[in-house]
Amino acid sequence: MKGMEIVGLGKALPGVRLENEELKEYMDTSDEWIRTRTGIGSRYLCTGEESLTELASGASLKALKDANVRPEEIGLVICATCTTDYMVPSMACAVQEILGIPGGVPAFDINAACSGFVYGLQLVNALMRGGDACRGKRKYALLIGGEQLSKMLDFSERSVSVLFGDGAAAAVVRASEEKRFYCHTAAEGDRSALYAHTVGRNQIPESAYEGRQVVPENPLQIRQETAEKILRDGYLQMDGKKVFRFAVKALAGEIEEMELRSGICAEDIDYIVCHQANVRIIDYVRKQKKLPEGKFFMNLREYGNTSGASIPLALADMKEKGLLRPGTRIFCVGFGAGLTWGGCYLEF
Ligand code: UT7
Repeated sequence: MKGMEIVGLGKALPGVRLENEELKEYMDTSDEWIRTRTGIGSRYLCTGEESLTELASGASLKALKDANVRPEEIGLVICATCTTDYMVPSMACAVQEILGIPGGVPAFDINAACSGFVYGLQLVNALMRGGDACRGKRKYALLIGGEQLSKMLDFSERSVSVLFGDGAAAAVVRASEEKRFYCHTAAEGDRSALYAHTVGRNQIPESAYEGRQVVPENPLQIRQETAEKILRDGYLQMDGKKVFRFAVKALAGEIEEMELRSGICAEDIDYIVCHQANVRIIDYVRKQKKLPEGKFFMNLREYGNTSGASIPLALADMKEKGLLRPGTRIFCVGFGAGLTWGGCYLEF
């Protein structure tokens, strides 16, 4: 059997937790609106002193400790993030350096937004099985889901900024002959439902273009007004209703997909751990599928939407609460910008 298992989990959160009430200082909003529309009560946000690098490496250190695995035993590092600190190098390479994971093994980032951790698990499995990763003494993979979404939030704009938070969590993973693992991922390109432009200004002087033919839409030849739009669109933008409709469909569809692949129906699965975006999305699907309230693990009340960090943060919290016992079986479902979505079946 070509299975895979998570043997260690760790999380890291920024020092500042902002309650809904405190957001009233920055925008016209209320605890009542945020709670009833989303189920979110607070979120953690990085201060100027904190960064994703710090969160991702902190979570990774804890995951290694939890798994009782040394940096020398790691054979693959993947970081799922859409809010990387560096354009280059990758967060995975930064973590590799900070943790002292010896060189000679692959380390890279993936961006599948809120589905990133599920995509990451699928990649880990593929690289362990079909690729050349995690050989010999370096049989473990380190998979991180981390975000510093506050970098992309416009706190003068209430509809998006109240939803998101920062955080990171990591998992130590190894191939297993006993624990089954199934995964499915998908995407449908859509640049308008949920997006943030790369904030970058064209530094090439206008005079450099004089007398030359400017190719329209060439990103290397951005004019002033385009540069301003890019700066504005550097903040996260979302068509909430469109994403809500997509999320409900993706969540319901992936539960069915995992039922088919694992041969276990949702009623019999111990927990469904889905992307923590909105309690109304989860409730809608839960009622549609006639599942009991406790079936879905939720922590969005405390963290808000942490995109690629949300599923591993939930897993780390479940482990802390003693919910991931030997034999526990779960479905994970991610959905978000891309649009991307995916599900996986995990056994503990
Ligand atoms: O992580 C990726 C996945 N993301 C998601 O799955 C998010 C999916 N979408 C959603 O969860 C919901 O669409 C939102 C929570 C984002 C928004 O909920 P909604 O029920 O679609 O609200 P809305 O955007 O239609 O806004 C309703 C009203 C508007 O006022 P009017 O036009 O009815 O007078 C907004 O201006 O609520 C107003 N509003 C707010 N009021 C107080 C919007 N944001 C706020 C706010 N505080 N923060």
